[in-house]
Amino acid sequence: MAGIVVVGSQWGDEGKGKITNFISQDSDMVVRYQGGNNAGHTIYVDGKKFELSSVPSGIFNPNRLAVIGNGCVVNPKALLAELHEIQEKGVTTENLRISDRAHVIFPYHMLIDQLADAKKGDGKIGTTGRGIGPTYMDKAARVGIRIVDLLDEEILRERLANVLAEKNEVLEKIYDHAPFDLEELVAEYVAYGQKLKPYIVDTTVLINEYLDDNKRVLFEGAQGAMLDIDQGTYPYVTSSSPVGGGATIGAGVGPTKITRVVGVAKAYTSRVGDGPFPTELFDEVGDRIREIGHEYGVVTKRPRRIGWLDTVVLRHSARIGGFTHLSLNSLDVLSGLETVKLAVAYELDGQRITHYPASLKDVQRVTPVYEELPGWSEDITGIKSRDELPANAENYLKRVEELIGVPLYTFAVGPSNEQTIILFDIWNKE
Ligand code: IMP
Repeated sequence: MAGIVVVGSQWGDEGKGKITNFISQDSDMVVRYQGGNNAGHTIYVDGKKFELSSVPSGIFNPNRLAVIGNGCVVNPKALLAELHEIQEKGVTTENLRISDRAHVIFPYHMLIDQLADAKKGDGKIGTTGRGIGPTYMDKAARVGIRIVDLLDEEILRERLANVLAEKNEVLEKIYDHAPFDLEELVAEYVAYGQKLKPYIVDTTVLINEYLDDNKRVLFEGAQGAMLDIDQGTYPYVTSSSPVGGGATIGAGVGPTKITRVVGVAKAYTSRVGDGPFPTELFDEVGDRIREIGHEYGVVTKRPRRIGWLDTVVLRHSARIGGFTHLSLNSLDVLSGLETVKLAVAYELDGQRITHYPASLKDVQRVTPVYEELPGWSEDITGIKSRDELPANAENYLKRVEELIGVPLYTFAVGPSNEQTIILFDIWNKE
């Protein structure tokens, strides 16, 4: 058994952190392979709440390595602050490793992210403003600065001088904003480099060594499939590849090393930021789910948009992500509703479609085709096994499995670890 990938199958915030934390209990390494501190993973360890943004959830066990892979973008200042916070709560961070090839988020990336999105007016993406998109843009444009560059002042100054000349011109001429000072940035980022130096390695060598030694490596995706730059609701997406395949590129391992992909979903849908959302609810059912499910962004605190579970979306995510299993969270949030709805298809111009259209205009025009199932009024937050579920809740789970064509690995009836029902040992599953 080698690599397991955990991915979000909706628009992020599906509770991947919790599932990752479980699977990682028996792993030797946890690798983040894309995104940056736009992600927000809430994890409870020994009764303490941790909100991780850049740090992989593998950090909580000193015998396990927690790796920030080459596909990630790193804000050194935010990362150091996060590490400090974790250390303050009594957790060592010596087991962290950061790829020397990961790209660095600079203040100009954050500023341009915020200014550019605001300039789009009604067409804004609603980014987290953390500079993620502009950093990946620079990576693709081959003007990015990598973690390794922070360790060499001469190279850093040279690269930064080139890139800053253009960024400052953009800031001043397009956004009427004050420029950044080269030497101030060099000094600040050289200092970050020195602080992060003990963690910086060629993570591809490390990860592949672990895999070759038959150690258990867990790849942790951030965001979700519908925010994937290729397969998501473009342009309302993030700038990286949260899907299962992203793990190969963002961690530097071959696709043959991935043996399982667990797609994580909530029993309903939530979304922060803008973009189409066919099953969105604008009524009191949506408000009720938002309140009971505490649906407010970890990073931005924004209220999340809420909707019914959309199996068109989940089938799309399962297809492109190669899901072998599904984890369904927050089933308890649906308790007490008279009926629960599942979108099984869409209707577009009188035609029934079962796939997610590429055209945003089409997505905006579709009407979800719902299957309405009887709800359950029982409190399920204390159940310990699948057979303790009320019949209607079990029906709901079974129907989701059928519609996605992927079996459940876990389901959750509340936020704490004990409230996640694990159906089998995924590392030893035949
Ligand atoms: P960016 O990743 O900051 O560029 O934002 C692009 C889109 O992805 C926006 O709609 C964000 O709200 C969304 N997004 C980014 N990270 C997350 C996340 O961790 N959870 C949910 N949505 C996210």
